[in-house]
Amino acid sequence: MINPTLTTLLDHRSIRKFTDEKLTAAEVETLVNAAQHAATSTFSQQYSIISVTDPQKLAVLGEITGHHWLEKAGHFFLMVADQYRNEQLAPKNERTAINLRSTDKLLAGIFDASIATEAMVTAGESLGLGSTVMGSILNDTLRVISLFDLPELTFPVLGLAVGHPAEKPEQKPRLPKELIHFTNAYQPIVATDPILKTYDQLITSYYHDRGSNQRDETFTHHIVREMSRDPKQREEILVALIQQGFSLEAAH
Ligand SMILES: Cc1cc2nc3c(=O)[nH]c(=O)nc-3n(C[C@H](O)[C@H](O)[C@H](O)COP(=O)(O)O)c2cc1C
Repeated sequence: MINPTLTTLLDHRSIRKFTDEKLTAAEVETLVNAAQHAATSTFSQQYSIISVTDPQKLAVLGEITGHHWLEKAGHFFLMVADQYRNEQLAPKNERTAINLRSTDKLLAGIFDASIATEAMVTAGESLGLGSTVMGSILNDTLRVISLFDLPELTFPVLGLAVGHPAEKPEQKPRLPKELIHFTNAYQPIVATDPILKTYDQLITSYYHDRGSNQRDETFTHHIVREMSRDPKQREEILVALIQQGFSLEAAH
């Protein structure tokens, strides 16, 4: 089955090199419009989008993420989980305060911001733009919060660098569907699964053959490496969540 929407979705790849061309105001508006039409938990629209155009702020984000190429993107969006706006609309009482600070509402803000982000990615790709979603803004969450004056009950979830592509990287092969799509119950995997081994070989070939940053790595190696990172690097996220007023505790 194929149609233009599926073609766009199935042709996805992250773009990290851009031409000098900035997004037009109409393109920015179109992406924000696409974000706004994404599904939103309990119709609460609990996210905000900050367009970052200040070169100094972009430079700080480049430093935080280690991805200085974002400074050359055609546009940069900061996607924020936002219960602050709804706090301003809700009655000031104990139940409201507990609800807005709950893990449930924290997750809802994160879902909303993330789903809106993917809508922007796909909308951009449908217009010939490329992008990279950036979780590395959380390398220094507290600095991001203060850089953008994020009030209580907000949290920076993702960055999104968008622009006119100056590269067309090979697509990264995904896990075989048998390993991610189950029917009626979860299917645990064993590390020796031959389907996984075949995928490991596929990823090895992908890393060998791709145009840049070639390396000798299977998917399993990749996960082992990811899991070996120093957990302290991101410990500040919990501090930031608490600072922003999320309780992360049961209501009773
Ligand atoms: C939540 C999330 C956070 C990500 N953070 C970063 C990031 O900080 N830097 C980066 O270069 N890519 C980032 N990516 C992009 C992934 O590395 C990329 O999607 C993945 O390697 C698959 O490659 P593809 O998008 O080209 O298919 C992120 C993607 C997601 C969904």
